Amino acid sequence: MIGMRIGAEIGLADAQRSALFYSLLLKDAGCSSNAARISALFGADDLDVKRDRKLTHWPGTSASLAHAVRTAGSGASPLERARRIIAVSRSGAEGARELIETRCERGDDIARMLSLAEDTAQAIRGLDEHWDGRGYPAGFAGEAIPVLARVIGLAQTVEVFFVSYGPEAAQAMARERSGQWFDPQLVDALDSVGRDRDFWESLRAEDPLARVAAFEPEDRALFAGARSLDRVAGAFAKVVDAKSPWTYRHSRCVAEIAVAIGGALDLDPDELRRLAPAGLLHDIGKLGVSNRILDKPGRLTSEEWDAVRRHPELTFRILSRVSAFSDVAEMAASHHERLDGTGYHRGLTGEQLDQPARILAVADVCEALSAERPYRPALSAREIKDIMSRDVGSGLCPDCYAAAETVLDEGIAVEPLPAASDSAE
Ligand SMILES: [Fe+2]
Ligand SMILES: [Fe+2]
Repeated sequence: MIGMRIGAEIGLADAQRSALFYSLLLKDAGCSSNAARISALFGADDLDVKRDRKLTHWPGTSASLAHAVRTAGSGASPLERARRIIAVSRSGAEGARELIETRCERGDDIARMLSLAEDTAQAIRGLDEHWDGRGYPAGFAGEAIPVLARVIGLAQTVEVFFVSYGPEAAQAMARERSGQWFDPQLVDALDSVGRDRDFWESLRAEDPLARVAAFEPEDRALFAGARSLDRVAGAFAKVVDAKSPWTYRHSRCVAEIAVAIGGALDLDPDELRRLAPAGLLHDIGKLGVSNRILDKPGRLTSEEWDAVRRHPELTFRILSRVSAFSDVAEMAASHHERLDGTGYHRGLTGEQLDQPARILAVADVCEALSAERPYRPALSAREIKDIMSRDVGSGLCPDCYAAAETVLDEGIAVEPLPAASDSAE
């Protein structure tokens, strides 16, 4: 809303306002791709590190160090914290550039995968460039940075300050960084917005989604047919899978295995069609779980387990709000449920789990065991069957498991990764 308001203030043409709208919504689509590295480097919660970074006047040695001291190794022993702070400081500007490049490239890729306008992709790629040329990843300066990227760069930082300290502090920050981080003309435009109290109040409203929709340029709204919905599910599967190096193919493979099992069981064509998006999106709730927990090689504490067990619930909350995917929300969110009620997040039992939900649960275990994990190597088909067969009847559906055995015997089809940008980060 902040970005769209600045765009209106500077008189962007309709096509540019449309491109800006979608790039503002998708600006963080690439963020999951550097979450694992940020969490590993800082030894801390990736979500906290990212928030702190926007509040820091960065780059600059003292600011970078202060950021590292505040975030690196949080909660660890003093020795571990010191080790982390040194590691972060050593990675320096080049480390920061790489992290941002990974994220911006991936965001750009996703916008293209969704067939959005070229301006949208470029805006996402350039959103961390700074007016004085000291931003990342390309180090472009002034008008060499696409104007939409400049708007997003300002809007995203203003938003963090607005939420943390209020509108006056957000505008003061923009003024202070004008000509360094931000295009001075855009900062002037923000000043005019600053006088509109109602606007800032509206940002705190209960139902932001409805308000955001009002900013979508009506004559330029994009409509999605069945094929583009498949692309949306596929693109978000990549966002989810990029979050951890251990899951780079997980969602895609779960979808493939689930469809193969469904086919072997002669599932109704309508239900079979729903298995693919459910498989692609079942772990979307993991985006809300820190990599410090997801990639932890050791035992999880009970608090960490609680965070992991929340992910199917988040999946449900996300998918049920998207009308095109709401009919798979229930199935996708039930992938950790077990027939005997020992699963999560609701502890459903066999009678409450329909066949597609049972298929998805089997496909999820099948893929997870066939992939490498921080605490064990990838398992062979024989080992997978040994482990899964112990759970058949009590936890996993016998019919679905029998079909999965055939899939395992034929080998889980994993296509080679098509491009470098598709690989795990
Ligand atoms: Fe899951
Ligand atoms: Fe999964």
